[in-house]
Amino acid sequence: MNINDLEKIVRQNIKNTDQEFKRVFHGRGNFYEDFNYLTIDSIDKILFIVLFEQLEQIKEKELFEMIRKVFDDVKHDTLVLQRRYLDKSPCEVLEGSLKENNIAIENNIKYKISFTNKNIGFFPDMKIGHKYISQNAKNKNVLNLFSYTCAFSLNASKAGAKNIVNVDMAKGALTIGRENHHINEFNTSNVHFMPYNILKSWNRIKKQGPYDIIIIDPPSFQKGSFAASKDYVKIIKRLDALASENCIVLSALNAPELDSGFIKNIFEEFAPSFKFVKRLGNLDTFPSNNEEKSLKNLIFKKGI
Ligand SMILES: C[S@@+](CC[C@H](N)C(=O)[O-])C[C@H]1O[C@@H](n2cnc3c(N)ncnc32)[C@H](O)[C@@H]1O
Repeated sequence: MNINDLEKIVRQNIKNTDQEFKRVFHGRGNFYEDFNYLTIDSIDKILFIVLFEQLEQIKEKELFEMIRKVFDDVKHDTLVLQRRYLDKSPCEVLEGSLKENNIAIENNIKYKISFTNKNIGFFPDMKIGHKYISQNAKNKNVLNLFSYTCAFSLNASKAGAKNIVNVDMAKGALTIGRENHHINEFNTSNVHFMPYNILKSWNRIKKQGPYDIIIIDPPSFQKGSFAASKDYVKIIKRLDALASENCIVLSALNAPELDSGFIKNIFEEFAPSFKFVKRLGNLDTFPSNNEEKSLKNLIFKKGI
């Protein structure tokens, strides 16, 4: 695949963008050879380029000539580049200017985003998982573990959940999560924000149970905080004590080196009252050469 093929894909995918967040090009899944260092997102009027590798100067020049050419032809007014391979992943505005408040929209829900953090405040590959929760959370008591900026909570709120508990050790992410509820005009009187290390806070988490829906969406590896390979089992072992009779669990795993069998085996051994129901699909806009290496969203139910 060469730069002209990339331009064709970008032009094709950018054609029908609207306010909704859209991944215009996803190289990370190794589906497109030679461009696994690149993602391009359409965030309303912002075109957001992320480079995961430092390129040779000549290659970077060729890439940006193509991107600027496309940018000149589309409705976007701001071009932002993030160099993800550098410490702190700095962003530069290459064209236009950023507003004070920038918003991404997914499933008609607004998310505050910020280009000063490595992660901008929103994980777009989880759209189908978020939607699943919006379809199942009505009148439910929902536990959102590893909530980050509370995307699942927003979807549960929209669906009319009875009570929602968000837990994440990153206080700043929860602050944005609270603001996200406010900008969507969702009532937060039944939404709780707990800034704790999940692995050390089971008693506090249990207090608001039993839960009808439990979402587990941890990082695959975060130094000193969580490693899926050894810590996922610690969460699953607690499920019976947290769950209501017909509890649904959405168990997410993003580690390429661990497959769905890793999670299924842990459930079989440590939470056998939960049965595997299905794996949710992934978005077409995140193509991968190996589905088991990409995001795995597994649904389990108790009492079936
Ligand atoms: C993949 S993000 C969650 C994304 C979110 N569910 C969504 O849909 O946007 C993982 C989050 O786990 C949090 N985290 C990592 N280890 C943790 C721990 N031991 N206790 C609590 N939160 C933790 C991080 O702060 C981060 O916000």
